[in-house]
Amino acid sequence: MKIIKLKDYEAVSQRASEFIIEQIKHKPNTTLGLATGSTPVRLYEKLIEAYEHKEISFKDVKSYNLDEYIGINRNHPQSYYQYMHKHLFSKIDMKDEHIYIPNNDIDQLEENAKKYNNALNKSFIDLQILGIGSNGHIGFNEPGTPFGKETFIVELDEQTRKDNMRFFNSLSEVPKYAITMGIKNIMRSKCIILMASGIEKADVIYEMIHGSVTEDLPASVLQLHPNVIVIVDEQAGSKL
Ligand code: PGA
Repeated sequence: MKIIKLKDYEAVSQRASEFIIEQIKHKPNTTLGLATGSTPVRLYEKLIEAYEHKEISFKDVKSYNLDEYIGINRNHPQSYYQYMHKHLFSKIDMKDEHIYIPNNDIDQLEENAKKYNNALNKSFIDLQILGIGSNGHIGFNEPGTPFGKETFIVELDEQTRKDNMRFFNSLSEVPKYAITMGIKNIMRSKCIILMASGIEKADVIYEMIHGSVTEDLPASVLQLHPNVIVIVDEQAGSKL
């Protein structure tokens, strides 16, 4: 693991954007793995800026998102489908047919998980962006998830639902289930960039890097991947 500790969220976002911009310049038909949540918002703004300045184009880029809630439909403002369109896709030249987000259509969940997994396995993610949950989840692989899992339906951890309550009016509105790439899918990526910022991530970042590799802390599996870059700000990296 390569650890990069920078001053603040802005610097973390800047450095992560530089990796992605370089990757797209080097390989215009890059396949990206994309994350949602608060952490990558500024990164996406920087990618949009690079696109607007004609530094890069996304016309041949493909992307796979890590996860999607179940129980709210795609038009719900907190769906990850809406998130991605609002924060990135509506502002760049990605082609719709190059955008993969797990389909959370309630009638066909298992089938959708299978389809998503097949698409992932036919492709190769060049660069996967990750955040990390305060409980150590990556994607929605919650503590206790077997490392061998591929795309599946997950019941969200109580901690995850509490952490994500800030996006909803109340805890009862936070979805209880999601569809997520599994750890095995994530580990197939050629390169992984995990970003973290803020003091509330300090313990989990320390454990991920220095703790044992255990399914109780899903992100610890990244110790076994040959090409992981962890970019943290001073607060998230304060225990390192
Ligand atoms: P956050 O979420 O970026 O909103 O902190 C990270 C995650 O849950 O993976």
